[in-house]
Amino acid sequence: MGRVIAVANQKGGVGKTTTAINLAAARALDGRARLLIARDPQGSATTGLGIHATGIEGTVYEGLVDGRDLLELGRPTGIEGLDIVPATRDLAGAEIELVNLPEREHRLHHAIARVRSQYDFLLIDCPPSLSLITVNALRAADGVLVPLQCEYYALEGLTALLSTVGRVRDTLNPTLALDGLVLTMFDGRNSLSRQVQQEVRTHFGEQVFRTVIPRNVRLSESPSHGVPIMLYDPASRGAVAYRSLAREIAAPAHREQGEARSS
Ligand SMILES: Nc1ncnc2c1ncn2[C@@H]1O[C@H](COP(=O)(O)OP(=O)(O)OP(=O)(O)O)[C@@H](O)[C@H]1O
Ligand SMILES: [Mg+2]
Repeated sequence: MGRVIAVANQKGGVGKTTTAINLAAARALDGRARLLIARDPQGSATTGLGIHATGIEGTVYEGLVDGRDLLELGRPTGIEGLDIVPATRDLAGAEIELVNLPEREHRLHHAIARVRSQYDFLLIDCPPSLSLITVNALRAADGVLVPLQCEYYALEGLTALLSTVGRVRDTLNPTLALDGLVLTMFDGRNSLSRQVQQEVRTHFGEQVFRTVIPRNVRLSESPSHGVPIMLYDPASRGAVAYRSLAREIAAPAHREQGEARSS
């Protein structure tokens, strides 16, 4: 059974989609079957992998609202082993339609349950809100990965996110884990970035991944070429960082050993 990870933070522009695409790509290039589920109503995880929103039939919307099988909806990307269920703008409308549907918090869970055995790893790129779509993702997930941008208000809203995670755990999904916080857009020359990193590590300790994603212009360029960073510029600092994050996530034992060392 593949592990399902929701990449969530209701703050916009913190690196959720960039993390979802590049993490999935790093793991797929490592030789494992993957599915990336695009959940971002702007469809950027979709276009970032070279699939264009015009003329797409069969998106996450059909999975959520019409209950269509995600296996039918998944399509291959240019990377072997990495499939995507595209999202387009109509996903924003799904939010409204979901409200009146039966089992409205569980729809993605049911859609994913039928495909889990086909993949090793399933990533859900959440939209920037704590909406019903995000709740569906948290209900469907085994773990949550939270990107935090290294800027002044990095922690703002994190309490609301963590309490939503707690509520989903209490009511819908008792085994939901916080897989960890990942610092993104880190700029080592900027003292604010360093301060944010220190503050986040002080507050959240081992819940923060060791890997830090640097601010790297190659990461922001790669979506316009429709490829993940590992193909666009494999030697860039962004590519190195996402490969390292992928390894850290694949081997939680490393973190446990780290915990043992630091305690
Ligand atoms: N490490 C990075 N270095 C440089 N640019 C980055 C980095 N990570 C993300 N970006 C850029 O920052 C912008 C926001 O990133 P991204 O789309 O991944 O955030 P998001 O959290 O998914 O946003 P939204 O909440 O709107 O869905 C994009 O233009 C992206 O290319
Ligand atoms: Mg996004």
